[in-house]
Amino acid sequence: MHLTQPHTPADFAAYYQLRYQVLRQPWNQPEGSERADDDPDPATFHAMLVADDGTVVGVGRLHASGPQQGQMRYMAVHPDWQGQGIGQQVLTYLEAEARRRGLTESILHARQAAVPFYERAGYSVVAPSHTLFGTIPHFLMQKYL
Ligand SMILES: CC(C)(COP(=O)(O)OP(=O)(O)OC[C@H]1O[C@@H](n2cnc3c(N)ncnc32)[C@H](O)[C@@H]1OP(=O)(O)O)[C@@H](O)C(=O)NCCC(=O)NCCS
Repeated sequence: MHLTQPHTPADFAAYYQLRYQVLRQPWNQPEGSERADDDPDPATFHAMLVADDGTVVGVGRLHASGPQQGQMRYMAVHPDWQGQGIGQQVLTYLEAEARRRGLTESILHARQAAVPFYERAGYSVVAPSHTLFGTIPHFLMQKYL
C-alpha cells in the first residue's frame, strides 16, 4: 500500500471514480458532480492511497485558501476500507504537503458524520456551515499545523 499523487489519466480516472462513489453516488448525484473547477489547477494537490493490487482506496485534496491557510476537500475512503487508518494516512499526507508549502493552518468543511474523525486528527469545530444536497449538515473545522 502506498501514498502518491495521481499522474496518469488512468490514475485520475480512478481518483475521481472513488470520489464519485463515496461522496456523490449515494445521493444520486450525476457523474461529473464530483469534480471542482480548480481540480486541474497546478496548485491543487491531489493525494491517493493505493493498495498493493492497484486499487485506489483513499483520496483527498489540498489547495491554498489563504496566504497561510490550506483547505482539505473531497476526503473519501472506499467503503470496504473505512475504519482501518486509511483516511488518517491521507490527511497526514495532505497536512505534510501544506507544511512543506509554509502553510500554518488547515481548514475544512466536514460532513457531520465525519466530525469525530477530524477531531481525532486534531481539528476543532469553528461553526456550522452549509447543508449539502439539502440533507448533510457540514461544520467548519480548523487546525494549526
Ligand atoms: C471520514 C473518512 C474519510 C474517514 O476515513 P477512515 O479511513 O474511515 O478513518 P480512519 O480509519 O483513518 O480513522 C482514524 C481515526 O478516526 C476515528 N474515526 C473515523 N471515523 C469516525 C467516526 N465516524 N466516528 C468516530 N471516530 C471515527 C477512527 O476510530 C480512528 O481513531 P483511532 O486512531 O483512535 O483508531 C471515511 O470514513 C469516509 O470516506 N467516509 C465517508 C465520506 C466522508 O464522510 N468523507 C468526509 C467528507 S468531509
